[in-house]
Amino acid sequence: MRSYFLRIPMVESQFDMSPPGVVLKQMEIGPMMNFVYLIGCSETREAAVVDPAWDVSTILRIAQESDLKVNRVLVTHAHPDHINGLGELLEATDAAVYMNVNEIDYMKEIAARFRLPIEFMNRRSGNFRPLSDGEQVLVGKVPIQFLHTPGHTPGSQCFLVERRLISGDTLFINACGRVDLPGGDPEKMWWSLNRKLASLDDDTILYPGHNYAEHPTSTLGEQKRSNPYLQFTSVNQFVHAMRGL
Ligand SMILES: [Fe+2]
Repeated sequence: MRSYFLRIPMVESQFDMSPPGVVLKQMEIGPMMNFVYLIGCSETREAAVVDPAWDVSTILRIAQESDLKVNRVLVTHAHPDHINGLGELLEATDAAVYMNVNEIDYMKEIAARFRLPIEFMNRRSGNFRPLSDGEQVLVGKVPIQFLHTPGHTPGSQCFLVERRLISGDTLFINACGRVDLPGGDPEKMWWSLNRKLASLDDDTILYPGHNYAEHPTSTLGEQKRSNPYLQFTSVNQFVHAMRGL
């Protein structure tokens, strides 16, 4: 069995909100309301899948219908609901996989702990490209910047492309990712949210890792005003509040 969960193919919604030069698709897939993204170059038609999970054939079908060829994978973090299609996608595309350097070890650790099948990491070890904070990768001619945002997991990362932030489970619309799972760290989450992401421009459009809110996107400006987890000026208050949840 390739996936960690029962595979339930389902695309409930698909949104196309592409900036000039980019093909950006937001797809809600699977039983946990995950958002999977395609980021493509409108000129070369090369594309990256963000967080391949649940239904790889649907992801590849949508890429094909959009005239995109997948040759990269960007992983926000290694929780199974975000990567349970990674092995299958690698078999189909031989894509390069960009993960934060800290998340590669974490992925092996949780796989061992919860007996998750990740033998493809050995079989496809040459596909994995560990990344650090601030690095940039081109998808075709589209530059994507990597922001290391630990807290939900040690190697959680967000992707910045043309003033759009794909935030995984670090920042949700009016919420943030859990910090009580293995590898979670409320102090680091405070810093990631209230220092790193809060320093981005207000007009940055937010694309979260799950469809948990009334709308599928927001802006950093809206979140700085309304998201309760972006209102903490003190790390201690934030940690206290998160531990009390
Ligand atoms: Fe997660």
